[in-house]
Amino acid sequence: MIYPIRAYGDPVLRKECEEVSSDNEKLKDIISNMFETMDASRGVGLAAPQVGINLRMFMIDSTHFEKDDLDFKGRRQVFINPEIIEETGEEWAFEEGCLSIPDVREDVSRNAQVKLSYQDENFKDKTEIFDGMTARVIQHEYDHIEGVLFIDHISAFKRKLIKGKLNQIAKGKIKVGYRMKFYSKK
Ligand code: CO
Repeated sequence: MIYPIRAYGDPVLRKECEEVSSDNEKLKDIISNMFETMDASRGVGLAAPQVGINLRMFMIDSTHFEKDDLDFKGRRQVFINPEIIEETGEEWAFEEGCLSIPDVREDVSRNAQVKLSYQDENFKDKTEIFDGMTARVIQHEYDHIEGVLFIDHISAFKRKLIKGKLNQIAKGKIKVGYRMKFYSKK
């Protein structure tokens, strides 16, 4: 099942998410639906709050970047209850976008490596260091489960420039090639 993507302006995107319990019976379905949703919208990552689920989990598919760099080997997997242990390496800027904030792209600086502990889909504990575009996508998705969006990392000046666009998105006045759900205060 493809979930609609929650748009900028939805309070679910601003909440800190809750731990995923290993006895969550819906988890297998949520994971498979989220992969389907990410693929349908051609995303390189998707965090649970983006589909209205307030849980600490996200998935990535950085294999999309293999075509830009033949030496790069991407990852496609889910991360449950991830914790960033440390971010190291030099900061580098990359123009990021987000399925919840369509048509907005801005340079964001992030550290080159991220050390992450997490659980896989079988709740097996893992700790790994990621780099390149995989680290970048993990850092972006990790922000989501903390209620942070990539536009929070840009300068106040740049945010001012996109303010009108953000308001349009929040109101649903945008054309998108995938299914979205816009927040209504009613
Ligand atoms: Co995003």
